[in-house]
Amino acid sequence: MTKLKVLVTGANGYIAGLLLPAFRDRYDLRLVDIRQKNRHGELAPAVVAADLLNEDSAELSGLFRGVDVVVHTAYIRPTEKDPQSSYDCERKNVDLAQRVYQLAFDNGVRRVVCTSTNQAAKWYEQPYYAKLKDRVLPDEYPKPDNFYGWAKAAYESLGFLYACGSLGRKLEMIQLRIVVPREIDASRFKELPPERYVRDLTGYISTQDLQQLYLRSIETESIADEHGVPFHIFYGVSNNARTFWSISNARKVIGYEPEDDSEQRFAADIAQMLK
Ligand SMILES: NC(=O)c1ccc[n+]([C@@H]2O[C@H](COP(=O)([O-])OP(=O)(O)OC[C@H]3O[C@@H](n4cnc5c(N)ncnc54)[C@H](O)[C@@H]3O)[C@@H](O)[C@H]2O)c1
Repeated sequence: MTKLKVLVTGANGYIAGLLLPAFRDRYDLRLVDIRQKNRHGELAPAVVAADLLNEDSAELSGLFRGVDVVVHTAYIRPTEKDPQSSYDCERKNVDLAQRVYQLAFDNGVRRVVCTSTNQAAKWYEQPYYAKLKDRVLPDEYPKPDNFYGWAKAAYESLGFLYACGSLGRKLEMIQLRIVVPREIDASRFKELPPERYVRDLTGYISTQDLQQLYLRSIETESIADEHGVPFHIFYGVSNNARTFWSISNARKVIGYEPEDDSEQRFAADIAQMLK
C-alpha cells in the first residue's frame, strides 16, 4: 500500500517531537521548521528550513504539492509577557495558520490536522472550579480568557471557512485541542488549591494516546459531518476517570480509543495530594 504523504510544520518543536516516532515508518514524511535545530540544540537534517509565515508562496508551494495531509504544529512563541506583545504575537499565529491553510488549499492537499488547545475555551474552567459545570463539549461557544486561547479560537473558525466549501472546494479540517501533553509533576501543585491539580488530571494525554489521536485524525477516510462539512474540533485527552473536556465526538467520528487514565498513571501521587 502506498504511504500517505504527510507534511509536518514545526517539525523541530515539542509536540512534533512526541508525534514523529509514530509517524516515521508509517508515512512518507516532509518535515518543515523555521529552525534546523531541535529543542535539544541538535541538527535535524531531515527538516527543511522554511519560514511559513514570511517566505513567498511560490517558494513554499513545492513543499505542499503532492501532500495528502498537513499536520500543523508550527507556533511562534511570544518573547514578552505583556498583553500587547502577546496579542501582537498571537495575531502572527493566526496569520501563520491562514498561510498554511491557503498553501494547502492552493496545492491540492486533502486535509489539515491542526494543533489547537483547550485554551480556546479556557474560561470554562471558572465554572468548573466553582462546581457549576462538569463537562465542556467541543461545539460549545469558545470562550478564551487569554490572547493565546483567542488566537486558537480564531484559527479554528478560520479552518471552518476553508472546510465548508465557500472558497471553491472543501479542505478537510480537524482541530485538536490538546490539554496536558506531559507527565504531571505533583510537586508543582503542592502550594496550589487542589482543583488546580485535578484540572491537570482531567486534561492529561499520554504520548501513546496523543499519537493515536493524530493517526486517526490523519487516516479516517470520511470525516464529513451531518451537513457534509469535513470539519471537527476534538479535545486531546486520555481515557481519564476524571473528565471535563468531552471526547465523545472523537470516539464517534474517528474511533479514538485512548488507553491511558491519569487516575491510574498517577495513583500514588493522587493518594498523597487529594487525601
Ligand atoms: N506544548 C504544550 O504543552 C501544548 C499544549 C497544548 C497545545 N499546544 C499547541 O501545540 C502547538 C505546538 O506547540 P509546541 O509546544 O510544540 O511549540 P514549540 O515552540 O516547541 O514548537 C513550535 C515549532 O514551530 C516552529 N516555527 C515557529 N515559527 C515558524 C514559522 N514561521 N515557520 C515554520 N516553523 C515555525 C518553531 O521553530 C518550533 O520548532 C502550538 O500551537 C501549541 O499551542 C502545545
